Amino acid sequence: MPELTSLTFNLLTGEIRQSPATGAEIQLPPGMAMLDLDRLTDNDKDTLRKALFENQVVVIRNQKGIDPTVLPKLAKIFDPNASDIHSAGEKAVSDLKNILSAYKAGRIPRASQVGIIGSGKFQDYEGLKELEVVHLVHDGYTRPYRWHMDTPFYERLSGEVTILHSICIPNTPDQKIKFPDGKEKTISAGATAFFSGARVYSLLTPEEQEFALNTTVTYAPQAYEYIRQCKASEDGLTILNFGREVTVENLSEWAWDKVAEHPMVWRNPLNPDRPFLQVHGCCVYKLTTRNPATGEITVMDDVQKVREVVYKTQSKIYATENIYAHHWQEGDVVIFHNRGVMHSITGQLAKYKDQDQEEVALAVHNDKHNSPKPFWDYEGVNDTGYVRELIKDIAMAGIAH
Ligand SMILES: [Fe+2]
Repeated sequence: MPELTSLTFNLLTGEIRQSPATGAEIQLPPGMAMLDLDRLTDNDKDTLRKALFENQVVVIRNQKGIDPTVLPKLAKIFDPNASDIHSAGEKAVSDLKNILSAYKAGRIPRASQVGIIGSGKFQDYEGLKELEVVHLVHDGYTRPYRWHMDTPFYERLSGEVTILHSICIPNTPDQKIKFPDGKEKTISAGATAFFSGARVYSLLTPEEQEFALNTTVTYAPQAYEYIRQCKASEDGLTILNFGREVTVENLSEWAWDKVAEHPMVWRNPLNPDRPFLQVHGCCVYKLTTRNPATGEITVMDDVQKVREVVYKTQSKIYATENIYAHHWQEGDVVIFHNRGVMHSITGQLAKYKDQDQEEVALAVHNDKHNSPKPFWDYEGVNDTGYVRELIKDIAMAGIAH
């Protein structure tokens, strides 16, 4: 039994909590209205970690006014190796090739790890004289824009957690997502959508699970630049049409040893028995599969085919009962396990420009020594998180650049 003075959590209930195990709400210790990390006991921190790594997405309500500098410190409770740099880089806004710059995402001067996303123009916010942020525009029906983990797949590894904090929520009508089976899901406007990598894995056939457990995913060099002219599919999981990719010769300078390479199925730090299939279906480049019986290695490096195979493993997830869409309330702090879920923004804040509206996002990345761990240890998987020397040689022979 937790002490009466302890931090606790409840699982979200019924329809909202989607299978398996996504979504919990944190209750701060009695008497602590605003999160105060200095007053949390080691037990409280253990409970926070348990809540997150078991449920993948957790919310702390009513945190309006929380100091943004607390957020990076909060991230370190889950990821002691987190560095103090936003996973999109130190100054993403001025980098036109960065996805966040398309949304004019700003940074908070006194907490450079904290970015600002949302919709609308703001004056004198957090030392920023003028700020304009841009969001998707969808009317009525919306869709996930692009499912992803927060990581550039180049030079930096994915963070264990991302923290989102909502500052102002506009009063906008709900929207709907239509799924391929004809069912519809009503979500709040601007909801952040999540699905669990464990759920993806559980939907696979035994053969697909075996394939996934023995497969390593190599991401495209400068992955987001590579796909920046490509359009994601309606479900946001893949890129259906090949041909608009930036050719490797025309990418910013890159090197194989900075290109991300991860197992297809990851181990959860506190739930080592639960496999998480974590793949970014739009950024994939190559699959390397090892047959555990014979040791034979199969390399698939036709990007279109790679996307098809990954899409086949992931697309079953796209159903109303598998998607958790966070309905933002003002002051919510949402912490999500970036290595256990895929997430996406959904549409419609932009139409309501006359009202203040914004969300603040934070992403913190790991140091180089903490790459995603394979669910199964298998020969050939790299433990650096980047392309290995041996594979690099094969790849160099196959691709002239
Ligand atoms: Fe994100």
